[in-house]
Amino acid sequence: MLDKKIAAMLNGQINKELYSAYLYLDFANYYADEGLDGFAHWYEVQAQEERDHAFMLRRYLINSGVRVRFEAVAKPDKSFSDHLAPLQAGFEHEQYVTSLITAIYHAAFEQKDYKTMQFLDWFIKEQGEEEATAEDMVKKMKLFGSDARGLYALNQELAARVYAPSATGPAM
Ligand code: FEO
Repeated sequence: MLDKKIAAMLNGQINKELYSAYLYLDFANYYADEGLDGFAHWYEVQAQEERDHAFMLRRYLINSGVRVRFEAVAKPDKSFSDHLAPLQAGFEHEQYVTSLITAIYHAAFEQKDYKTMQFLDWFIKEQGEEEATAEDMVKKMKLFGSDARGLYALNQELAARVYAPSATGPAM
């Protein structure tokens, strides 16, 4: 049986991941409205991945005999001044999510809950990748985004992202 505090933190993380999906869909809404369909597509795929993260956490709790309970998902209410702004907001958001995952990991460590630590290993790695990707997108946009041809090329590049449900996923 999971420690109550760890279970509550994991349950809370489901909400954060669903919020991430909602936030990134909102970014996609913005880019679609701006005519940047590649950027919109990229964030639609990202939203699907975030939803998957929520499902993984939910499944882990269910498999651990925990009754999952949902809270309201917050409204993403960001307005953007330019095409770079969502990318920067995305990078900051991933850093925030990493801090949340790290906090759960630390709590699991303190409880000697090695099973949850093993489960979270996948998320720790995933956060490292997501932060690196988000930072890379900010850098590319700063380098190429102010030029129309550069922006067009970036849009094409992002349009090529393919959604693939995680083949491995975390250990359950
Ligand atoms: Fe599920 Fe982007 O963190």
